[in-house]
Formats: sequence, structure tokens, C-alpha cells
Amino acid sequence: MSCPVYQHDQAMRRHFHEAAAQRGFSVAPAQEAAVERLARLAAELARPAWTFPRRPRDLYVWGPVGRGKSWLVDTFYEGLPTGRKRRLHFHDFFRRLHDGVTGPAARRDGQSAVDSALDDLIGNSRVLVFDEFHAHDAGDAMLIARLFRTLLDRRITLVTTSNYPPAGLMPDPLYHHLFEPTIQLIEERMDVLDVTGPVDFRRVAASQPASGGGRRFATGLCLAPGATALEELALTVPAPTEATGVQAHLRQLPARAVRGELVWFGFDALCETATAVPDYLALAERFTTLVLDGVPPLAEASADGRQRFANLVDVACDRDVRLVLIGSDPLTALPAGQALTRDLDRTASRLAMLRRPDGARPTGPGGQ
Ligand SMILES: Nc1ncnc2c1ncn2[C@@H]1O[C@H](COP(=O)(O)OP(=O)(O)OP(=O)(O)O)[C@@H](O)[C@H]1O
Ligand SMILES: [Mg+2]
Repeated sequence: MSCPVYQHDQAMRRHFHEAAAQRGFSVAPAQEAAVERLARLAAELARPAWTFPRRPRDLYVWGPVGRGKSWLVDTFYEGLPTGRKRRLHFHDFFRRLHDGVTGPAARRDGQSAVDSALDDLIGNSRVLVFDEFHAHDAGDAMLIARLFRTLLDRRITLVTTSNYPPAGLMPDPLYHHLFEPTIQLIEERMDVLDVTGPVDFRRVAASQPASGGGRRFATGLCLAPGATALEELALTVPAPTEATGVQAHLRQLPARAVRGELVWFGFDALCETATAVPDYLALAERFTTLVLDGVPPLAEASADGRQRFANLVDVACDRDVRLVLIGSDPLTALPAGQALTRDLDRTASRLAMLRRPDGARPTGPGGQ
């Protein structure tokens, strides 16, 4: 016999508290409303669709970096007792959509390539969790609008996280108007939950050595060249003979070394040449440790190099790749208050999780 519906929200609530306890923390006051709403959603989704005349309302969870948004929606996702669910990360969504649009199975039954790629992404799911929703250009606007329409047409529930309140999406004034219809749709159709609490949990964790919730990303390092941690981790500097090409998305990238699940690149080879998110995702699928040497202070990198690096950090964090940065602390010497890269505070929050064996404190926007 299946559980009465109300038991599903209790089970989900319990699941949240157990998941937090396992990681050594408790649900924060600013997260309580989201836990409550996600627990209710779990109960709504547990009902057969025909007993539920209206589709459950979608959820839009937003707040500044490190407030536990991804943890909330990932924990919800794990705890949902259905196979009909999908979780997508923003970068992954665009990569898969792009592959679908340009790949061999692009056209089917007269459907547009975008629609059939969306079909493949969504499958038969009843709920879609979409982490780190943001939009920066006209292409994003078109694809996201299409995604929303498809989800609504198919009565699929969307749970999304973002660093932006809906009205702040697509901040570039050049493109903002293109996104206004989608913002309106979000405000009408989604319950918007603000989880802005007083602390960035990543920075709190960074000040407590041994924390990190068992994530590989949190075992990453930020090292000065020649630092002793190089030997401790058997990270001997690659010999020239170890140089090799590594297949990324649609191209070979020149690595300084490949050692089992570790790949070693120079910053310039990965971030100052025309690489893109699909390349980083391909690397994250194959390697568990990514070493990047020759890292400059980001203020000295090119604008594209900074953006690529920010995307690389996003992908490494989401895919739980250990990142070892050798060179300057990338966030040093950033001019105060200057947005050198879109969403740089997200990068700074993630980089705060890397250990600095010399005891240096992470720097950068929001650093303490
Ligand atoms: N209540 C809490 N107390 C302490 N740590 C927490 C709490 N909630 C989440 N965390 C931890 O804080 C870290 C950051 O959480 P998470 O990645 O979910 O943040 P986020 O809001 O998604 O940030 P971003 O906007 O940068 O993506 C994770 O290691 C997570 O396990
Ligand atoms: Mg997140």
C-alpha cells in the first residue's frame, strides 16, 4: 500500500534534517520556509496526476552565493520517491541543448531542433530541478523561454535556484527587455522563495579546516608555485615529455600531463584560448582532479580569460572535481567593487572552499 500523501511531506522534512545532520549542520532559519515548501511539493508530487486538478506550483529559490540553495534542491531531489525526475545544471542544460540542436538526431517529425533536444533533456520526468538559473544574452533568453513554455505545456514542475530575484534576471540593459516576458511568467507561475541569510556557508566552512561535507571540490588547493603541498600530494611538476593532447568537447587541448584521473593544464592553455563550458564539462566527466598552473591574479587576465575561469570553477564545483590552482591567488588585487566578471562573487565563494596550505585567507569580493 502506498503512503498517505501527508506522510510524504513529513518524510521529506525528516530527510532534510537528516541530510543536514549527516553533514554536521542544521537547517538555517533562512532555509526553513524553503524546506517547508519543498516538503509540501514532495507531497503534491506524490499524488497521482489525475487526483490533482492543477499542476503543483513551480518554485524559484533565490539568494546570494553560498546560502545552501543547491543543497536544498539537491536534497529535495534525492529524497523524491520517483524515477520521473531530472536535475540539470545551467551549463549542462546549454551544452546538451546545443549538442541536440547540432547533433545527428537534430530533426524529428518536423519538430524544431530545439524542441526535440528539449524532449530528450526532459524525458518523461514530472519534475525538473534546474540549478543556477541565470541569463546573460539573447541566445539564453530564447532557449530559456522555450524551456518554460515546454514545461508548462507538459505540466512538468520546475524547481530552480538562482542568485538573482526574477526581476534581476538578464541584468544587461541591452537585453533585459528580451527577458521581460519570461520574468512575468516566472512571477505569475512560480512561488518565489528568498533564502537570503546572513552568511555564505562556504566561507564559514573555509574557516573550519576539516569541513567540506565530504566533497572532493572542498579538498582542492590554492598554492604558490613550488609550495610544499606539491610534494605532499605527489603533485610533481610535469616533465616536458608528459605533455599530451586531451580530447575535450570538439577539440584536443594541450595538457601538461595526464596521470590517471588527474589532468594538468597551464592557465593560458585552458582559459586564454578559445575553450568553452562544454570542454570543461567533458574534462569533468573524465577527470577527478584538475591542476591549473600559471594562474595569474584575475585582474591581469583578459576579460574572456576571466569569464572562462569563472565558468571552469562553476563546472568543477558542480561536478565535484578537485581543483588545484598554482600561481597567484586569482582573487588578489581585484579593484574593490569592480565587477570584472559577471557573477564573480559566485567564483569567489567557491574559491573560498579551496585550502591555502600556507594559511593565507581567501580574498576577493565578500571576503572577510
Ligand atoms: N544550514 C547550513 N549550515 C551550514 N552549511 C550549509 C547549510 N546549508 C548548506 N550548507 C553548505 O553550504 C555550502 C554552500 O551551499 P550551496 O552550494 O548549496 O550554496 P548555493 O546557495 O547554491 O550557492 P551558489 O549561489 O554559489 O550556487 C555547501 O557545502 C552546503 O552543504
Ligand atoms: Mg548553487
